[in-house]
Amino acid sequence: MQKLKVCELFAGVGGFRLGLEKTNNYDVVWSNQWEPATKTQHASMVYEARFGPENHSNTNLEEVPTSEIPDHDLMVGGFPCQDYSVATTLKNSKGLIGKKGVLWWSIHRILSEKEVKPKYLFFENVDRLLKSPSTQRGRDFAVMLKSLNDLDYAVEWRVINAAEYGMPQRRRRVFFLGYHKSTEIYKTLQETSPTKWILEQGTVASAFPVKKQGAITSFSLEKDLVSLSNSFNLEKALSPFLNSGICIENEVHTLKTVTDYNGTHKLLSDILEDVSASEFYIPEADIPKWEYLKGAKKEIRKTKTGFEYNYSEGSMVFPDALDQPSRTIITGEGGKSPSRFKHVVQTSTGLRRLSPVELERLNMFPENHTKLDGISNTKRAFFMGNALVVGVVEQLGHALFRKIDALEKQLQI
Ligand SMILES: C[S@@+](CC[C@H](N)C(=O)[O-])C[C@H]1O[C@@H](n2cnc3c(N)ncnc32)[C@H](O)[C@@H]1O
Repeated sequence: MQKLKVCELFAGVGGFRLGLEKTNNYDVVWSNQWEPATKTQHASMVYEARFGPENHSNTNLEEVPTSEIPDHDLMVGGFPCQDYSVATTLKNSKGLIGKKGVLWWSIHRILSEKEVKPKYLFFENVDRLLKSPSTQRGRDFAVMLKSLNDLDYAVEWRVINAAEYGMPQRRRRVFFLGYHKSTEIYKTLQETSPTKWILEQGTVASAFPVKKQGAITSFSLEKDLVSLSNSFNLEKALSPFLNSGICIENEVHTLKTVTDYNGTHKLLSDILEDVSASEFYIPEADIPKWEYLKGAKKEIRKTKTGFEYNYSEGSMVFPDALDQPSRTIITGEGGKSPSRFKHVVQTSTGLRRLSPVELERLNMFPENHTKLDGISNTKRAFFMGNALVVGVVEQLGHALFRKIDALEKQLQI
């Protein structure tokens, strides 16, 4: 089978591309990345330096005409997590009015407008997406599933914690794959029992084996997207979406699964390098501040308006445990200022933060992928906080290609 053509949205510094290209089965034909918060487009600078400037668009995706995007087989992207509520549908049209700035609707617009629709979709987001917003648990994901079903895609999702499958970072993200109605995978999914698909036969199950924990729940999504958005799961404390599931033709089937993995585990100690640059070492004088921020607290705090309230939080491991996979990297990981969330490791040369290369290793990026003139170490850390664990994309990419290939071969027999 030929390589699949890929369109990479919200490309950042290219985590999806790295993972897919490792399989040798995918070819990125167009990518888009635009950082709204800064004038200089640092992530695009890195992307273009590594992969070339050809076919890379550095424009707000909301403003990119669909005609600029070449036809592709697979659309991928880790889009920002936002409020996906739907205000109203456009009269006499299938279009939707999503709020401006909400990037899901850019994906939706492209999928709606493209005459040759991508056959497959592959998206990533924070696992919180399955539960948001807090006032209407699961609504955002329901809107997303429903809008994809309306565009003729079936969806399969799973929350994957990379560390549970031998990768170096405890990064828990929801990955979801979409299959267009015209594909063999769609037809096979339609004919397979949901439990069997989720546990054995699905693309995700073949890449990341799981065991069942509890019974499968099934429910239908309301027919109309606006009323679904307004009324989904109102006043219920819990989201109906469990960590694994499928949704096809407005029918949701969801199941709690647990990781089935007996391989080795990568530890934080495994990714450390020798670091000599003094900027990463914690000065003696700052240690009390770090200890305070990392420590448990129970104190009375005051708001700006003078209102007093009780504040409490538990302690963080300090320094970080070297004999476990690392905690999640966040965007604020870089910079010298003491913080509750930055990683700090005790090494033979002292107490220090993680280097840019170590952060890249935690996401399984090539070393120095983000090293470039004009890109600070703080920016490099920011990129890794935004990115994903490349190994997860690689394994899912492999599984998807294998599945498509096998089904095509069956057709030829
Ligand atoms: C969660 S990150 C994805 C990172 C990527 N997967 C990687 O490996 O680096 C989301 C990306 O979307 C970009 N973004 C935010 N708003 C955008 C917009 N309006 N148009 C295009 N890209 C946007 C951000 O700059 C960020 O790089």
